[in-house]
Amino acid sequence: MSRYTPIYESSLADRNDFWLELARDIHWYQAPTSALDDSTPPFFKWFPDGTTNACFNALDLHVNEGRGEQNAIIYDSPVTDTKQQITYHELLEQVSKVAGMLAEKGVSAGDRVIIYMPMIPQAVVSMLACARIGAVHSVVFGGFAANELAVRIDDCTPKMIIAASCGLEPGRTVEYKPLLDKAIELAQHKPDSCIVLQRPQAAATMIEGRDFDWHDTFAAAPKADCAELPANHPLYILYTSGTTGMPKGVVRDTAGGIVSLKWTMKNIYGVEPGDVYWAASDVGWVVGHSYIVYAPLFHGNTTVLYEGKPVGTPDPGAFWRVISEHNVKSLFTAPTAFRAIKKEDPTGEYVKKYDLSGLETLFLAGERCDPDTLAWAQQHLGVPVIDHWWQTETGSSICANYAGIELLPIKPGSPTKPAPGYHLKVLDNDGNECQPGEIGALVAESPLPPGSFTTLWNAPERFESAYFETFPGHYETGDAGYIDEDGYVFVMARTDDVINVAGHRLSTGAMEEALSGHPDVAECAVMGAADELKGQLPVGLLVLNANTEKSDADICTEVIKRVREEIGPVAAFKNVVVVKRLPKTRSGKILRATMRSIADGTDYKMPATIDDPAILDEVTEALASLGYPRSQ
Ligand code: COA
Ligand code: AMP
Repeated sequence: MSRYTPIYESSLADRNDFWLELARDIHWYQAPTSALDDSTPPFFKWFPDGTTNACFNALDLHVNEGRGEQNAIIYDSPVTDTKQQITYHELLEQVSKVAGMLAEKGVSAGDRVIIYMPMIPQAVVSMLACARIGAVHSVVFGGFAANELAVRIDDCTPKMIIAASCGLEPGRTVEYKPLLDKAIELAQHKPDSCIVLQRPQAAATMIEGRDFDWHDTFAAAPKADCAELPANHPLYILYTSGTTGMPKGVVRDTAGGIVSLKWTMKNIYGVEPGDVYWAASDVGWVVGHSYIVYAPLFHGNTTVLYEGKPVGTPDPGAFWRVISEHNVKSLFTAPTAFRAIKKEDPTGEYVKKYDLSGLETLFLAGERCDPDTLAWAQQHLGVPVIDHWWQTETGSSICANYAGIELLPIKPGSPTKPAPGYHLKVLDNDGNECQPGEIGALVAESPLPPGSFTTLWNAPERFESAYFETFPGHYETGDAGYIDEDGYVFVMARTDDVINVAGHRLSTGAMEEALSGHPDVAECAVMGAADELKGQLPVGLLVLNANTEKSDADICTEVIKRVREEIGPVAAFKNVVVVKRLPKTRSGKILRATMRSIADGTDYKMPATIDDPAILDEVTEALASLGYPRSQ
């Protein structure tokens, strides 16, 4: 008899009892008396009358229960040659002081604070300090350019920005402070203050009256206690790519996040309090929020904060060193990291150099896990390799396998079965349910479980229209896929203009906006073409104005620079070519999917509505000049 099935079924059938029971596992100042307020769909509220605090659940609770001397964080930074261990007690001390520092600078519950920091302990401390006093943090990934930071500043209007002077990429120091200054200059909204952590690798120039040194301010700060907050108080805003250049500010509430994340640690990841858990991601992404910071701390684990890469810091054995040195029990990363390792060490020689006997499971997410990567990881690590399906919006997995309940048989290419609370369906364009094995839109019946997003910051109408309008009563995931006859879910592709580059979610629409901003570009299209290492890479096609004087090559170089400066290096936008015309339907819609098939070398049907089929030959030739299709 399956142990997973009754749990899953009761999460749908006895929703209130199921979640109220799980809610008992966290600390409340005032325990909720009901699970769900469904009076204003799709704005559902979980545990509406409870009060709690995420920082209390992450730190104070464990110190009070005797876990103070256990490591909360192991910071391992091959790029600075640093290793540091921080106990729960020490982390609580630091977080309480930073919370006091925020309060002294006028930040109070409900105010927004942007955190622009690399993978250093102060990033985690800042997030928890915000949570402690009820300030709403918004972490911005370091690989974004000043313009992207400016867009986020204007949208969430932070009272304060906390930044580091630099981040360290292999071979180069990324100075954050000039990017921050430029972003504040570009933004309409100006924060009252900035706290800047000076790292020894690059000194930030401070602006008198606005910028304050982290160390000085920290030293003088009083400690602040936890604020008792309503269950639905926003814990954070995390911006993610949508179909337009304007990112979506995903809002996560406090209690839903604590209840759901805490449950996943034992039941999905199979770890016990005290175990070392490592999510090799970045605090700037949702995986970092949920599984570097909050979930492991809610569960009393030791979390590894790794400032490095899977390869090149210094070699493809980096992950294995960290696992063996810190006795990691469960690793979570993106398939692209494994592809990078496999490329440099195809026969797994580096794996053999380390004792990985403590590792029990590997979890992969962030993009489709190709069966080759899954097989390579299984063969060389000798542990179950679990693909699970995730979105920034959901905050934890929509589909997973359940190491702490029952490991269901693995089907390569499938992230297995729905997590509690997700009533998944596959619908066709008319909203009818597809047959098993038939591809359609993957949707989840409302309400989504606790921990999933409650709205989009400043954009409740967009929350409704982007996610709940196409299929009324259902959340549209934006992914297409199918469910097989055994109930296994397969996630195949996005249905919108979002692409996935090295596990990073990016908008082709935003890149097109950057390209069309070039004065010589009349029209453009960006699509995601398959890439052996990064999963997908953006490819741009440009149509130029008739009277341009510059060469095609110069314009291509300039637009590459534009994307890097406006979106950031993380977009990895390097492939662009000039064409005379773009293929379109008669109604003027650019045929991106057809061009993607040409780039990938996959079959496509000649679109019936194409205005001139000969254009596809021109596009094929142009893509061939960039080396497409590339052999996979
Ligand atoms: N700050 C500043 N720049 C950053 C950055 C950061 N935090 N992270 C990445 N960049 C830059 C890189 O330096 C690179 O710049 P370049 O064009 O000058 O070389 C560019 O953004 C692309 O970076 P990246 O995607 O990391 O590509 P890469 O070729 O350097 O490395 C991988 C490839 C596969 C090793 C890497 O993408 C990786 O580790 N991926 C795992 C992704 C992940 O954890 N995703 C989270 C979801 S679970
Ligand atoms: P993000 O919001 O950055 O986490 O990206 C979410 C998107 O990444 C999803 O909508 C999917 O397109 C993709 N994704 C994440 N995990 C998986 C997975 N396990 N299998 C297939 N696609 C995935």
